[in-house]
Amino acid sequence: MDEPKEVTIQNYKGWEDFYKIEKSAKLDFFMRDGRMLDILFSQQFDRKFLDNMCQLATQIRRMALTKMGARKLSGLLSHKRAMLYFVQPSTRTFISFLNACHILGMKISEIRGTTTSSEVKGESQEDTIRTFASYVDLIIIRHPEAGFAEKTAWLLNQNNLPVAIINGGSGPDQHPTQALLDIYTLERSFRNIGGMDGKKIAMVGDLKRGRTVRSLSYLMRNYKDVTLYFVAPEVFRMRDDIKSFLNKHHIEFHETDDFASVMPHVDAIYMTRIQKEYSEDPTSEAETYPAFHFKSEHLSRIPAHCAILHPLPRRYEIEVAVDNDPRAAYWRQERNGMWIRAALIAYIFSAEQVIFDEFS
Ligand code: CP
Repeated sequence: MDEPKEVTIQNYKGWEDFYKIEKSAKLDFFMRDGRMLDILFSQQFDRKFLDNMCQLATQIRRMALTKMGARKLSGLLSHKRAMLYFVQPSTRTFISFLNACHILGMKISEIRGTTTSSEVKGESQEDTIRTFASYVDLIIIRHPEAGFAEKTAWLLNQNNLPVAIINGGSGPDQHPTQALLDIYTLERSFRNIGGMDGKKIAMVGDLKRGRTVRSLSYLMRNYKDVTLYFVAPEVFRMRDDIKSFLNKHHIEFHETDDFASVMPHVDAIYMTRIQKEYSEDPTSEAETYPAFHFKSEHLSRIPAHCAILHPLPRRYEIEVAVDNDPRAAYWRQERNGMWIRAALIAYIFSAEQVIFDEFS
């Protein structure tokens, strides 16, 4: 297949100014009839919404256990269509969204990469999205550029096209639905020890360019007395925008490059990969920073209840020998993604009450 040869650059008046507005000041723009239409960044989620999504995800997975429940779920959104537009590589976000749509009975179209679309002829990505909006009710986007999903939602809303946009990962910026599944996994891990409130969480690795840790950090304002430990090599420290946000919301955080010293004191460890795809000179990062790897010898250093998470894919950050320890939560974490994404889609199309009523 051909690669796009020439990209058409279009000038959207007002977009640059809109993008600069602080996220918390433009939440209403992405809502319709009192609920979120577009899911673009973690600052959109409040505690009530997060608790609701976690409960809904659990209800959906319970319903899906029986043939009758699964059939009922698959009738809920059988009148809706979704487009998956993934122009940056993905395994679990793509597959979990695809299956979440299937669970709810939606019809799916997909483009993975640009080599089979009219972008090869130079069509802009904005026109491409607008074309999808002619055919579907929901567009899920994975894109290498920060802000691209927000731009398309802005564009469709400007034109009164009520098609929902979900950001399935936007460059090194945000991955809000990953943050949802991370919270769901943490809440389930802590269900017998009081939930998220008061917990100490270490985030480890490439915090500078890891969009998952950025989106998850934003969610911490919704929980009481959480403490974050940012454990990273000097070159990959958490960016100042996140640290300013945490300071503004009085969320305690500490920064260190001494992983071993943090291990005994935390309730969860969130490992991340060095994001080499964003390096200008990838060969300069041939190292994988072994001081920021979790090895089987570390299992004896962490508390008995400590959950080990990773958004995956992993490289060398977690030894495979750790996988069978009950505290290794990362495979559960990726399964949780499908259920909470189904919950999110049910919410967008106001189908959640039928699911809650099933068990009331
Ligand atoms: N966690 C995550 O976003 O994985 P993929 O890149 O495989 O979708």
